[in-house]
Amino acid sequence: VLWGGRFTSGPAETLKRFNDSFVFDHELFAEDVKGSIAWARELGRAGVLKAREASRLVAALGQLPPPTAEDLTQHEDVHSYVEARLFEALGPLAGKLHTGRSRNDQVATDLRLYLKACFGEAVEGVLALAATLARLAERHAATAMPGYTHAKRAVPITFGHWCLAYVEMLLRDGGRLRAAAARADECPLGSGALAGTPLPIDRRRLARDLGFARPTANSLDGVSDRDAAAEYLFAAALLLSHLSRLAEDLIFFTSDECGYAELSDAMATGSSRMPQKKNPDVLELVRGHAGRAVGELAGLLALLKGLPLAYDKDLQLDKEPVFRTRQTLAAALPAVTALLEGLTVKADRMLEAASDERLLATEVADALAASGVPFREAHERVGRQIAAGRPLAELGHPEALDVGRAVGKRKALGGTAPANVVREAKRALARIARLQGDGR
Ligand code: ARG
Repeated sequence: VLWGGRFTSGPAETLKRFNDSFVFDHELFAEDVKGSIAWARELGRAGVLKAREASRLVAALGQLPPPTAEDLTQHEDVHSYVEARLFEALGPLAGKLHTGRSRNDQVATDLRLYLKACFGEAVEGVLALAATLARLAERHAATAMPGYTHAKRAVPITFGHWCLAYVEMLLRDGGRLRAAAARADECPLGSGALAGTPLPIDRRRLARDLGFARPTANSLDGVSDRDAAAEYLFAAALLLSHLSRLAEDLIFFTSDECGYAELSDAMATGSSRMPQKKNPDVLELVRGHAGRAVGELAGLLALLKGLPLAYDKDLQLDKEPVFRTRQTLAAALPAVTALLEGLTVKADRMLEAASDERLLATEVADALAASGVPFREAHERVGRQIAAGRPLAELGHPEALDVGRAVGKRKALGGTAPANVVREAKRALARIARLQGDGR
């Protein structure tokens, strides 16, 4: 262990089983090595280590073997693993690496580096999905379908407009992830255990070396702040909530009852018992994962809320929710994208459903109102006609019973008109391409 001096006996097996984190924090191996290389370099530049010592440490760190499955039960955490392997390579010199550093600023730095990758990856996945939806919107700018409120047929919309609603959500998700990444872009290394490092190191240079925008400003905050993890989990939970709503819509659209769209064979599943079934498991899993992601966020916030400054071991439990959420997004985003790429839109079924007279009741009431009938009275008249089960055509205004006209009229900004959908889809695609360029 890294802390044996004041102890006469070693840690009990039961302590180790509960206390050790290597079984999960090995995931931070690459980041831990990267942070240690930067620290060794900085110790060299600050004159704390001789130039030769620093370069031997840097070289050996670059060669360390990643942990094997067997290693995972043999070390306390990723930091002690790296130090143990370094000792095997260099002997006592390895013991100089930890000068002026604590595992507290080390793990905070590892996690920030790790989260940077998580944010970047999520933005990429979100933009790819948004692009797929925007292209689908372009193709179906004029495809009429029923729009719903309270899961009841309301007025006709275009399928393209439905697609673009999710593009808006995803663009906000992308922006949220990027903004959180920018806030997280600070380097805690050099905060020491809690009070700062006594060594004459240049934390600005160190931060730059590790690719951070700047160092954290306060050492107590630096070692105990987990906002970046919480913001990642929030952004992911909201993103997955959006995907879950999309999933819910698509489960309905592809149901036998609607038949507005059909899943590709490649993105659907079958039943072991009922030969006719083609099931939307991908969409249901997305809905399920959204619930779990909300739980991951709630769990981390509950863990953080009562912690006194600075480091407390509770913070060791901050990592698994981040790891799990990263895995979920990495699997869910491409799956939803592929599902949409393979979706067959049944425009004829959509139009048939959208041509249900009840969806045009509002149009007829509007037409009556335009001819001078007060809208309240027009509403009443149309409502009575429907209650009596009589055709709306009897009220005059046959032009109002045209689905294409009903959607085409909604061309004020933000409306479902095909002309709007084409324009907004192109705008979204241009914006997505710009954002994708930014990332590189
Ligand atoms: N495994 C620990 C964690 O993940 C590393 C930091 C340990 N620090 C300490 N003071 N015990 O939080």
